[in-house]
Amino acid sequence: MKINNLKLQNFRNYEKLNLEFNDTLNIIYGNNGVGKTNLVEAIYALSLTKSFRTSNDKNLIRSGEVSTKIEGDVIKNTTNNYQVIINKEGKKVKIDNDIISKVSDYITNIKIVLLEPEEQMIFKSSPQNRRKKLNIEISQLQKDYIIYLNSYNKTLKQRNFYLREAYINSNTSRDYLDILTHKLIQYGKKIYEYREDFINKINEYINEKYHEIFEIGDLKVKYISDYKDKSEDDIFKYYNKNYDREVVMGKTLSGVHHDDYIFLLDNKDIAEWGSNGQQKNAIFAFKLAEIEIIKNTTNDYPILILDDLFSALDNKKIKNIVKLLNKDIQTFITTTELERLDKKILKNAKTFNVLDGEVKESIYE
Ligand SMILES: Nc1ncnc2c1ncn2[C@@H]1O[C@H](COP(=O)(O)OP(=O)(O)O)[C@@H](O)[C@H]1O
Ligand SMILES: [Mg+2]
Repeated sequence: MKINNLKLQNFRNYEKLNLEFNDTLNIIYGNNGVGKTNLVEAIYALSLTKSFRTSNDKNLIRSGEVSTKIEGDVIKNTTNNYQVIINKEGKKVKIDNDIISKVSDYITNIKIVLLEPEEQMIFKSSPQNRRKKLNIEISQLQKDYIIYLNSYNKTLKQRNFYLREAYINSNTSRDYLDILTHKLIQYGKKIYEYREDFINKINEYINEKYHEIFEIGDLKVKYISDYKDKSEDDIFKYYNKNYDREVVMGKTLSGVHHDDYIFLLDNKDIAEWGSNGQQKNAIFAFKLAEIEIIKNTTNDYPILILDDLFSALDNKKIKNIVKLLNKDIQTFITTTELERLDKKILKNAKTFNVLDGEVKESIYE
């Protein structure tokens, strides 16, 4: 999968921009604050309809403007035109000029794997943020996943509402609660299965990838879920047993909305025990494993974005790491330090020199 070009209108600090990409390596370089991350953020948003660094779409609109448009042609088996348009009223997405109303029909098309400096924060972050990342990764691959997630969240809201009602009024119908509980378990089980399958697949590759970065130790990801190894019956009984407590608390106390995952290096939680470098490389190994999963599932490589390469990766290992990049994967690297990249790697790469809202393209020789 390759993105041929990118057209921006009033996106972040770009008023108008038109870029043609190389189908192997693209290097975006320039000083701090000139708009390098904005460029890869646009590619990411073209794929997933949202940014990785703001949850408010309106921040993507250039200051003083009322709307933004991101557009690009992407080759898979066929070449298609994708558009994401954001204005004050909301967001519209189009493929070949047709409006796509279901988000799951859009975001499963352009596969992106992103590595950025903030990624390492997942070790310090909340389970909610970790689930968010996992959800995005799985949503790109499985159309149904996002539908189950939405159904689960809707049922969860209804169930929580019921529990709060039951606290005030002891005559509320238990039959209705049971229906909601069964629905919750049914959707939750599906989500559980997708997550477990994804993490199992990550574990097929992650250790080998970690060793390719020349790190020693045994790395794996452990999935933690209330639904783990439980039948629907077991889970239902468990909810029943906790009913009184749930009514007092006014919320559903277990389920896949509490799921989490941790990285284990030699069976120790890397968030607690790992060095900075080990953590960075573990995340990169995860991303490399994700690339393999996408390749195996779709028979095509995703687009790879390495934002702020030298801070996203462990400095000592950077030479080995860049060598791992496969020529078949279209890659975008942003950096302030072009000269730190190996000349051999740069050969034939396309470079984009960003100077505050303007971009100069050339081929490195
Ligand atoms: N909505 C926006 N409108 C105009 N400028 C913006 C907007 N959002 C961010 N910027 C500007 O973009 C620049 C940051 O771009 P960024 O891509 O993060 O830089 P870097 O090159 O360091 O990666 C800042 O100068 C910031 O003021
Ligand atoms: Mg940046």
